[in-house]
Amino acid sequence: MVDVADGIPQGKALDQWESAPVELFDTRVIGSNGYEETAGSDIVVITAGIARKPGMSRDDLLNTNAGIVKSVSEQIKATSPNAIIIVVSNPLDIMCHVAKQVTGFPRERVIGMAGVLDTARYRSFLAEALDVSVQDIQAMVLGGHGDTMVPLTSYTTISGIPIRQFMSDEQLAPIVQRARDGGAEIVKYLKTGSAYYAPSSGAVEMVDAIVRDRKRILPCAAWLEGEYGMSGLYLGVPCKLGRKGLEQIIEVELTSDERAALERSADAVREPMKTLSF
Ligand code: LAC
Repeated sequence: MVDVADGIPQGKALDQWESAPVELFDTRVIGSNGYEETAGSDIVVITAGIARKPGMSRDDLLNTNAGIVKSVSEQIKATSPNAIIIVVSNPLDIMCHVAKQVTGFPRERVIGMAGVLDTARYRSFLAEALDVSVQDIQAMVLGGHGDTMVPLTSYTTISGIPIRQFMSDEQLAPIVQRARDGGAEIVKYLKTGSAYYAPSSGAVEMVDAIVRDRKRILPCAAWLEGEYGMSGLYLGVPCKLGRKGLEQIIEVELTSDERAALERSADAVREPMKTLSF
């Protein structure tokens, strides 16, 4: 675990390592202010960057975090040139772009964690509303990790049964909106930081899919090269994750409303890219 603040990664890593006898893992957790200890990593998760304060959008973090992600990416490139990078820093889709550009890694090895989190929020709210297990809710949220994200209601099912058999459009709409605003809802409570637990669970699910070569289909931010008719940007799409990282982008059929929403979301990712400097 690496951080610029002296003592913080050392203390957190020690705390985590001390949980090993209870949690039953033997992986040594080491905290450092440098990258030497991370050399030769197979996977690196980048969470570095400042978090939002209440009232801020993820895009307000753009150039500060671009500088931070640039510096982190340069060091990863130098010490772990074969690593697969999972970006968590915000604004997510653009920070993936920065990491890809700075490292020069292929798109298979630079992937963003947002869709798993956004989908987890959507699923948790649905489980609450329907009083069913979260485990039985299948869903996908695509698009950019921002206000324009696109929950695919046409693919939302409860144990394979379409959501429409459980809820009307009117009942579903506020749940979709709450998922979109999920990050801001947490920031409003915490005031000085953003969500921790659900984002880290999302990153762990992606790491697990890669390390164990599971071929999971998860919504992730991926560099598009013609998929969904778009190129030259990161956007949340269904991805197959395995040992090689991003192994495939799945192109699902979308309703005309969903396609239009995905286009709008892509525009919302492209717009702040115009002022990006790093
Ligand atoms: C969120 C931040 C991490 O959605 O983007 O909570």
